[in-house]
Amino acid sequence: VPLNNHNIDRLASAWRDNAELWSEAVRSDSIESRRLVTNSAVLEAVRSVRGERVLDVGCGEGWLSRALAEMGRDVTGIDASERLIELASQQAGASFLTASYDDIISGVRNVGSGYDIMVCNYSLFTDSLKPLLRALRELGVAGAHLVVQTIHPMIEGGRYEEGWREERFESFTGSWSPMPWYFRTVGAWVHELRGGGWRIEEVREPVHPATGQPLSLILIAGA
Ligand SMILES: C[S@@+](CC[C@H](N)C(=O)[O-])C[C@H]1O[C@@H](n2cnc3c(N)ncnc32)[C@H](O)[C@@H]1O
Repeated sequence: VPLNNHNIDRLASAWRDNAELWSEAVRSDSIESRRLVTNSAVLEAVRSVRGERVLDVGCGEGWLSRALAEMGRDVTGIDASERLIELASQQAGASFLTASYDDIISGVRNVGSGYDIMVCNYSLFTDSLKPLLRALRELGVAGAHLVVQTIHPMIEGGRYEEGWREERFESFTGSWSPMPWYFRTVGAWVHELRGGGWRIEEVREPVHPATGQPLSLILIAGA
C-alpha cells in the first residue's frame, strides 16, 4: 500500500475511533490552546468576512457550526466521521451531514452550494489539498471566502519541511488512536491554497498570551 493511501486510511479511522474522546475533550473545554486563543480566533476570522451561508468543513462534534449559528449565520457542517455527525446532530443550531472530502470532490454527496464562507478549523490533514480546495471553490458564490485555521508550523519541532507526521494525543487523557497528518511550512500552505484556486487576503498568527509563541496559523482567502 503506498504511504499516502495508508496514512489517509489511518487518518479516517482515527476520527472514527476517537470520536467520543474528541467530543468529550472539545465539549469540556479541556484543550488549553482552544480555550485561550484559537476558538475565538477562528470566530473572529469568520466574522471579519461578509456572508451568511457557511460550510463548516470537517466540523467534528459541531461546536464551531453552533457558535457561528448563534452569531446569525446559516451553517452546514460536514464530516466523514458518522459518530461525530451523530453527536453534532444531537444539539440544535446548524445542519449536519456525513460526507468525506472525497465525497465532495467526486460530487457523490450533495452538500449544498452557494456558500459565502467555507471554514476549515484544524481539519485539513492530508498531503494533497488542491482537489478539495478547488471543489470548495465551486460550492461557493462569486466572491466567496475560505478561512483555514491550522497548527502553527513554528510550534512543531523537527525539520522545517513538509511531510507526514503522527499525532499521538499524548497531552490528552484516555486511549486514543494515533492520527497521521501532513506537516506544512507557511510557504507550503500558501502554495497549496493558491494551487487550489484561492487568493490569500490575510494571514493571522495568534499567540499564547503568556509565552508569546504562535499557536495557530489562520489563512483568509478569496475566490
Ligand atoms: C481536529 S478535528 C476538528 C473538528 C472541528 N473542526 C473543530 O474545530 O472542533 C478534525 C476533523 O476533521 C475531520 N476530517 C478529517 N479528514 C476528513 C475527510 N477526509 N473528510 C471529512 N472529514 C474529515 C475529522 O473527522 C475530524 O472531525
